[in-house]
Amino acid sequence: MKIVTVVGARPQFIKAAAVSRVLRRTHQEILVHTGQHYDANMSDVFFEELHIPRPDYALGVGSGTHGRQTGEMLAKVEEVLLTEKPDTVLVYGDTNSTLAGALAASKLCIPVAHVEAGLRSFNRAMPEEQNRVLTDHISTLLFAPTETAVTHLRAEGVTDGVRLVGDVMCDALFYYRDLAERSGNALDMLADILPHAPEIDEKWILATIHRAENTDGIQHLSQILAAFEQMPVPVIFPVHPRTVGLVRTLWRREDYRNIRFVEPVGYLHMLWLAGHARRIVTDSGGLQKEAYLLGVPCVTVREQTEWVETVESGWNTLAHADTADILVKASACTPTAPRPPFYGDGHAAENITQSLAELIR
Ligand code: UD1
Ligand code: UDP
Repeated sequence: MKIVTVVGARPQFIKAAAVSRVLRRTHQEILVHTGQHYDANMSDVFFEELHIPRPDYALGVGSGTHGRQTGEMLAKVEEVLLTEKPDTVLVYGDTNSTLAGALAASKLCIPVAHVEAGLRSFNRAMPEEQNRVLTDHISTLLFAPTETAVTHLRAEGVTDGVRLVGDVMCDALFYYRDLAERSGNALDMLADILPHAPEIDEKWILATIHRAENTDGIQHLSQILAAFEQMPVPVIFPVHPRTVGLVRTLWRREDYRNIRFVEPVGYLHMLWLAGHARRIVTDSGGLQKEAYLLGVPCVTVREQTEWVETVESGWNTLAHADTADILVKASACTPTAPRPPFYGDGHAAENITQSLAELIR
């Protein structure tokens, strides 16, 4: 079977690394990189360290408003599909690259296979919610990571083609965590980036913030950074490029001493930093789940989460973008409950590959 896979943003590279390794044993894969993320530390680093095959097509779309970016991807992916004539198009998650890939395929009547189908925040103001709902409704195969996702699809009348396969980020974490541990102390690498940073001993909180709701204005981010500044241990904060400008603006006003701002790091270093952290504070979808899988208490600075199992089990707590709320939630989050394997056993990629083979039978 010939499959065109469309990726473009950081978490999609990690997901594709887990799936491509298995998929390519039995299927022909053509990899398309839309160029949504393009900085070396948002893109190349993942291809290199996770040994993702080089993209067959690099569309170089880059940043832009939602309409322009999605539209440009749509036109360019369509050209690829007209040339390659694949049996199916594989898309991941909920970014603009996901929607563009799915829409281009759907309009050409090529079956769409959506990895991470059925996730919902029920907040239609989120660009990601728009992307995932639209993608699910034009997909032929819907690879749901959890029972909750299957339930959401059923509630929307989507049952055909739904497969509960587990979560591919869980596959990635299980596969790479030993390598991440062996790749050594990521603090040495941070010292290279920040040679004048004060020493960090073995205690830190790992933070990432990049959601539109937290970075579209200065108000939320200033509340969040004020909380980081008052945390009892240093906060290591790899700053997403979307957040850099605001951080610089705030840094001119505040003398942050407890926060170690660093460039985005590669996945192996990220897993190491996450696994050894005391707490994780984030608005990332992927990192919330990694916190759960690694057994690190997490505070998610959002009003909703798609990964509700992490909250229901007590390992993740939602906080408003409010200094006091983040501090209270971070100190109160001391879970001891077991962590059931909601996200599968690390074999989602095999399940996906198998289901794709059934599609052409
Ligand atoms: C996108 C996804 C989001 C996902 C995130 C993963 C959408 C709508 N959002 O958000 O769901 O969680 O990726 O990280 O698709 N920029 C750079 N260099 C880069 C990439 C981005 O400087 O390599 C800057 C640009 O100023 C750009 C901004 O970051 O305008 C936002 O990038 P964009 O890809 O539009 O959205 P993300 O916030 O990264
Ligand atoms: N990540 C990384 N380096 C960083 C920040 C995040 O490798 O500096 C990884 C993180 O461990 C997770 C994924 O990127 O695997 C999550 O991506 P992101 O937060 O950008 O997107 P989301 O999951 O929110 O869509």
